[in-house]
Amino acid sequence: MPEQVEIFADAAEVAVATADRVEAVLRDASARGCECAIALSGGSTPALLFDELARRTAGGAQIPWGCARIFWGDERAVPPDHEDSNYRMARDRLLDPIGLAGDRIHRMPAERADRDEAAREYGRLLAEHLPASDGDPSWPVFDLILLGMGPDGHTASLFPNTQALEAESEIVSANYVPKFDVWRMTLTVPVLNAAREVVLMVSGESKAERIGDILGGRVPADSFPVQQIHPAGGDLRWMIDRAAAADLPMA
Ligand code: 6PG
Repeated sequence: MPEQVEIFADAAEVAVATADRVEAVLRDASARGCECAIALSGGSTPALLFDELARRTAGGAQIPWGCARIFWGDERAVPPDHEDSNYRMARDRLLDPIGLAGDRIHRMPAERADRDEAAREYGRLLAEHLPASDGDPSWPVFDLILLGMGPDGHTASLFPNTQALEAESEIVSANYVPKFDVWRMTLTVPVLNAAREVVLMVSGESKAERIGDILGGRVPADSFPVQQIHPAGGDLRWMIDRAAAADLPMA
């Protein structure tokens, strides 16, 4: 099942379905040596996922969080306590509520002035902790990468017409985003495509035109960054709500 598209009533149901995948991946890992590398995403849809996972854990769900090693798929160039920080959002809405902290949490230091060295160091960290891809040992393999998609078809911090999209040898790249005049840090396309599973959480009517373009076959396959995500040896799951799927014929 290399690529699957599922449509849900709303963003809350996308979060529930994605939380089911997080639980399943962690339980699978707990039976295979209890090492599970997960990359978290920023965005409002992933935030609902964090709330759902925190709620389940508080409610007594036996989720093997001890097997998780947490990374980020991308980060803004802001300090860890900044309101725009993807790390802060995950810490406040998931990691602190479930009591996960310490040396298995690996914040992406996108705010460092030596951004290229910081990106290289984070890439080395991934190479140290994750298995290498069978297809190409250059690429570390995540058990699960959680992603969102913007209305412009970006994912992680791989925005249209930005340098990181062209990265062929970097695991992690600093990325200047002209439309916002900001720096970001992001996993690169080859790393996303080395993953065992990628879940794309897409919700809201602002995404409908782009989803219609991409999943409705209205545009060439290389039109938007998110279209470059095709895990060669893994699964890609599009988890979409009805508002974002409004332009699809079957919606
Ligand atoms: C970020 C995210 C970004 C996000 C999308 C979708 O740092 O903002 O990595 O890729 O996932 O923009 O965000 P929404 O779910 O809020 O639309």
